[in-house]
Amino acid sequence: MRNFYAAILACCLVAGGAITSSDAFAFPQDTHPAQDGPLQPKVASKQQPLRPHEPLVTAKHGMVVTAQHLATQVGLNILKQGGNAVDAAVAVGYALAVVHPCCGNIGGGGFMTLHLADGRNLFLDFREKAPLAATPDMMQNAAGKVVKGRSTKTYLGVGVPGSVMGFDDALKKYGTMSLAKVMAPAIKLAKDGYVLEPGDVRILDTSTDYFRQHPNVAAIFLDHGQPWKAGQVLKQPQLAHTLELIAQGGTRAFYDGPIAAAVVKASRVNHGLLSLKDFRDYTAQWEKPIECEYHGYTIISSPPPSSGGTTICETLQIIAPYPFAKWGFHSTQSAHYFIEAERRAFADRNTYLGDPAFVHNPIKQLLSAEHAAELRASILPDKATPSAQVKGSLGPYQATNTTHYSIVDDEGNAVAVTYTVNSYFGIKQIAGNTGFFLNNEMDDFTSKPGVPNQFGLVQGKANQIEPGKRSLSSMSPTIVLKDGKLAMVTGSPGGSTIISTTMESILNVVEYGMNVKQAIDAPRIHMQWYPDEVFAEPGSFTPTVRDALEAMGYKIRTVRQMGDIAAIVVNLKTGELESVNDPRYPAGSAAGY
Ligand code: DON
Repeated sequence: MRNFYAAILACCLVAGGAITSSDAFAFPQDTHPAQDGPLQPKVASKQQPLRPHEPLVTAKHGMVVTAQHLATQVGLNILKQGGNAVDAAVAVGYALAVVHPCCGNIGGGGFMTLHLADGRNLFLDFREKAPLAATPDMMQNAAGKVVKGRSTKTYLGVGVPGSVMGFDDALKKYGTMSLAKVMAPAIKLAKDGYVLEPGDVRILDTSTDYFRQHPNVAAIFLDHGQPWKAGQVLKQPQLAHTLELIAQGGTRAFYDGPIAAAVVKASRVNHGLLSLKDFRDYTAQWEKPIECEYHGYTIISSPPPSSGGTTICETLQIIAPYPFAKWGFHSTQSAHYFIEAERRAFADRNTYLGDPAFVHNPIKQLLSAEHAAELRASILPDKATPSAQVKGSLGPYQATNTTHYSIVDDEGNAVAVTYTVNSYFGIKQIAGNTGFFLNNEMDDFTSKPGVPNQFGLVQGKANQIEPGKRSLSSMSPTIVLKDGKLAMVTGSPGGSTIISTTMESILNVVEYGMNVKQAIDAPRIHMQWYPDEVFAEPGSFTPTVRDALEAMGYKIRTVRQMGDIAAIVVNLKTGELESVNDPRYPAGSAAGY
């Protein structure tokens, strides 16, 4: 279980010290075990003042919100130059690969949810694929035991990266600018460098010890063996060269040229499985997004191989009849029914969902009114249901460090992107001189049924490793419509907690009437079936509610922070776009015009 805490800390909690007591919600220090974990940042928060939290930003024409302020500026400039939200999304995707290298990437993959001004809702899957030589038990030793660290810290953890293919596909189909134009700002940031802020060095320093183990990584991400300090300039000439190759050669440079060759060579030397054929065969995929109705709003989110949209919609359908608005934010009743609905939806998630190219995903049944009614009926009004009594509820299984950004443009196109290398800096290794970190997305597969992954997710056979398969994700880039019109764009990092964080951001706005800042600042809770515990940010419950929940049988574990939300809300009264940086990630920003 320790892995789970470390992973949650690593992907979304490190900015914790940035929270001040003047925030709308107090975040006192907790005694979360992960604070002692190996990924705890060592940079003292007193070293240099953090950027002040931005106030709520409003804009009439366009808005960009990302986890790194320079990437936000890149997106905003593209919009101001007449680019649309897709142009800006691709420019931001490449910029984050430079200025947010823990998470923004070309060595990983992700998802893009789009709502176009003409009313179309689209979804692009550029999730990594397992190498063709992968096998279901490759993370186990001869005795059948899962080998610790194999899926997270070695080249066996690397899936075939999808970001470059995904961005190319999105830009060609729905963008208006050339690849060279949208990549130019990222190349400049890599070549000329950028001034590191406290929020940036905190993230880098989570992995200093790992950077020291690899000379080619240390040469870039350490300053003569020591962590970079705020105020210094980080230049990445190798990454600049890689990006230039892509800007000139397109996807071929990455998937059938020098970059693939360099990654495959490093993989071979380090006992990985990646082959040139894996790269050549890689495809991104357009899918129909998951859609559901909730209290007059339409939720548009990620379909398998992400579990996000299905789990959000299943949970929302279970809770729909309950008067959450009347009960109030995180009251005993609303928390109880939210947690129980999540427990049941996650049990289904972990049992049935996987890459649809390999397994049948019973989405229709999971999202049916009958299924929601059945699950609702199993919730006791006054008691927690132990997870051991909850099973994937369709009967036995039939074999049959991430970042999110949101963009809205002047025409009304909206794009939500969540992409990742999984853990902070993926396997924390770079192939040769390519300059980018490789993902450890193979850890999102079931290494062995019943054995938790780094996010504590206990998953089943539907998500076992198979050649060319995409691992099950929780990433949930989500768009919300009201009467067919854009109401909200949202999403977050945070492993399995992404689903709860995204869903709570929506509930806070549509159910509790919060503005975007209140919705983002509000503390979050999460339940994922196993471990049978409720994760709660400090301040989530009043002492009275906490006592009441504990008396009902809930084990509540305080976690310092969950993922940072990057959301844009359309103010339905003024029609203006509203956004704000999530203070959980002080390096980020929202900006509009
Ligand atoms: O796809 C997933 O669900 C995970 N690979 C996401 C990882 C993540 O969010 C890490 N941290 N913030």
